[in-house]
Parts: sequence; C-alpha cells; structure tokens
Amino acid sequence: MPTPRSDALVFFGATGDLAYKQIFPALQAMMQRDGLDLPIICVAHSGWTVEQLRQRAHDSLVQAAKGHGGSVDEATFAKLSARLQYVDGDYNDPATFQLLKKALGSATRPLHYLAIPPSLFGVVARNLRQSGCADDARIVVEKPFGRDLASAQELNRTLHEVFPEPSIFRIDHYLGKEPVQNLLYFRFANSVLEPVWNNRYVDSVQITMAEQFGIDGRGSFYESVGAIRDVLQNHLLQVTSLLAMDAPIGSDPASLNAEKLRLFRAMRPLDPKEVVRGQFNGYRKVDGVAPDSNVETFVALCLHIDTWRWAGVPFYIRAGKSLPITSTEVIVDMKTPPLSVFDEITPPQSNYFRFKLSPEVIIAEGMRVKKPGEAMQGEPVELVARHHAAVEKSPYERLLGDAIRGDNSLFTSDECVEAAWAVVDQVLNHEQAVSVYEPGSWGPAEAAKIISGTEGWHNPAPEASEPC
Ligand code: BG6
Repeated sequence: MPTPRSDALVFFGATGDLAYKQIFPALQAMMQRDGLDLPIICVAHSGWTVEQLRQRAHDSLVQAAKGHGGSVDEATFAKLSARLQYVDGDYNDPATFQLLKKALGSATRPLHYLAIPPSLFGVVARNLRQSGCADDARIVVEKPFGRDLASAQELNRTLHEVFPEPSIFRIDHYLGKEPVQNLLYFRFANSVLEPVWNNRYVDSVQITMAEQFGIDGRGSFYESVGAIRDVLQNHLLQVTSLLAMDAPIGSDPASLNAEKLRLFRAMRPLDPKEVVRGQFNGYRKVDGVAPDSNVETFVALCLHIDTWRWAGVPFYIRAGKSLPITSTEVIVDMKTPPLSVFDEITPPQSNYFRFKLSPEVIIAEGMRVKKPGEAMQGEPVELVARHHAAVEKSPYERLLGDAIRGDNSLFTSDECVEAAWAVVDQVLNHEQAVSVYEPGSWGPAEAAKIISGTEGWHNPAPEASEPC
C-alpha cells in the first residue's frame, strides 16, 4: 500500500560531521535531480545562525565537489539554501521542540533524521512526542544502533514508546549501495545460481572490506566502537545476509525482512577462538585515542550459518583500516570437481564467483580453460561483468529519498538489528590484547590461522582498467 510522503525534513545534528560529509551533498543531489520541495529544518546546539548553517552546507559541497574534481552547482545550491531553516537549542529542553513545532508550520508528516549519538535518541524522541512533533512522523536513526544486544533492545524499546516500527528507519548506508543491492538482484533474477548456491557446491565464502586509510579525524568516535561495531555488526553482516538468505516470497519489505531475519537468526554467535582482532601500529598516537587502547582497527573471523543450505560452509570475514588497498570484495569459492580427471590443478582451486562491491562494481566468475597445445592442461580465467555507472545516486541520497517516501525496504528492522548484535555479542568484551600489525600490511599474522585449506585469504587487488 502506498504510504504518504513526508512533508518536512527535520535534521538533528546538523552542524556535525555526518551532515557535512554525507547529508548536505545528498540534499544538493536530490534538489538537482528532482527538486526537493520540502522545508528542511536543521537542528543543533551550536549557537549558530541560519547564515552560518548555510555557509557550512556550502563548504560541505565544495569539499564533496573537490573529491570528484567538479564544482558546486550554485543555482541548485541557491534553491537548497532557501529551504534551509535552523533551530538552535538543547535537546533536553522542551523549548527547543516548541521552536521546532513553530518552524514546521503547516507540515503534518515530518521525517526526523537523528544524526546524533544514540544516547540522545530517547530524550529527543520523548520531546518530539511531548511537543506534538511526533504525530504521523517518521524517524531515521544512524548506525551503530546500540553498543551491544542489550543496549540495542533498550533503544528499540525507547523508540517504540513514541514511534511504531513501520515509522522507524534504521540506516545502514551499505544497503543503499548499488552493488550491494545487486547481490540480491543477481542471485534471484538468474536461475543458474540457485542449484549451486549451497554446501554441496560452495566450499567457503570470503568477504574482505579493506581500507587503506586510517582513523585520522575520527579518533574519539572510533575509540568508542572499533571495527566489530563500526562495520562488522552492520555492513558486513548485511552483505552476508544478502549473499546467503533464501529467496523472499516477494520484493516487498516484509518478505525481504522475513528471509533476512531467518538468516540472521541462523548465524551462530561468534566463537572468540575464531575471531582475531588487530590494531595498526600508530593507532594509539591518533588524536582522541587512548595511549593504551585495546580497540581493534582490524577483525578477521569465521562465521557459521546453521541452515541446511550452509551447514559446513565457513564464511570468512575480514575488515581493517590501514591495509594495502581500499576495496570491498566477496569471493564465493566453489568446490573442486569430485575427481581430478586431468590431475593438473595445483593448488586444487577451481571455480569461484567474485563480487567487487567497491571501488569498482564487478561480478566475475573464475573458471579454468584449456591452454592451446597437445596437453590437457589449463589456466584460470575470469569472465568479468563490469558496471559503468554514469549517474548513480549516493547511498544517502537513495536512502533519504526512500525514507521521505516511506519505503523501508532498504532499512533494518528491530528484529534484524538485534539478531545481528546477538551474533557479535560474545566477542565485544576485549579481554584479549589486540595483535599489532604494520600499516600497509594485510593485518596481523594470526588472521591466517583461522582460515582452513591451502588457499588462505584472497587479498583484493587493483583491477585491470579493462576486462581481459
Ligand atoms: C562507515 C564506517 O559506516 O562506513 C567507516 O563508520 C567506514 O569507518 C565506512 O570507513 C565505509 O563506507 P564506504 O561507503 O566509504 O565504503
């Protein structure tokens, strides 16, 4: 059933980092693409004026434009800027929410975006209710949603006091990425994969999220999370769910959510013995980081999914900062043929599927073909499909637009977020010291020990400019 469009966007934390890096560029893109005909009310407690806020929005666009070698479309910005309002005030003070109510004017179905620490979600939600700003409203909350299972459950209870579940949009920007959605599409829009997508044919799965950069500028945030909370509990378990879930009975949000939830619940809680935490040498000197920090900037683990389809197939997952390259890649290794007819494959690796999720978007299939000549000897080749996106929406543009329309297909439900926390909950208490690794390496040597078989980790490599 179509849901009514939100008629105002209220944006808490408007002077913060997320607004600067992601939200203003997304709003500008939305204005440019479709015209954004909503009042945009920015809320923060910074003592700013609306002019300062508009200047900050402009600076953010200049910065974003530099990143892709372009310039700010000033005509579009003028339209965006005219829509920006600013409410300054303490989130604990009901008076702030009276100002917000006034700014909302005739809008009756606002979308409230909370780009603020989760510790403030409760007070903001309750003040929204008391001021009447929560009636017929939607709320968007950022990840990480909680710090562990118990705090996520508590947060869900708090939000549910004010908003019904269908009005709560938990953002995981990975779900707004084209290549991540394509995992789902590719699996279920083709019939060839399904017969082999199980423990009879798949040997193991590897997911690597490598980032070449470190933590500069985010030291104190990162100290409060670490790699497990920052990217594993959310982005990487979401990718795993799309790779491993059963076919949903429809493309509607409820059907998708039902299958994802089944899969999350089948993930076995991580065993600390199958988790390696690393920290790059130099992390402790980053601003905002404790000199004796035991927070991980790298994690490698083996995940088990207890379903008939995946029993016995290890899912090896790795994420880290200060690695040799920035690249997120999934490799689904297929089993070797049951008999080695030609007896020439060493090591005995045969076929695989490779999904490169960033920076390029690639789907590849690794096969062996015969080398020309008398001998029955082969060589590995890759069949590569490469996606050249001309005009692609950023994940934030996509997800904000969906939330305004009330489409929650790409957002995480209360049950899924809790099930994902249940997977990592046992490995969040860092009693064991992190293993140190050198920046620019593939993480601590211990990571190799959790992976069985002869192949070890597949390290993503820079792509050749054109497929061979
Ligand atoms: C964020 C994490 O959620 O995702 C960052 O907080 C990480 O640490 C980022 O770098 C990666 O996202 P993307 O879209 O740049 O791959």
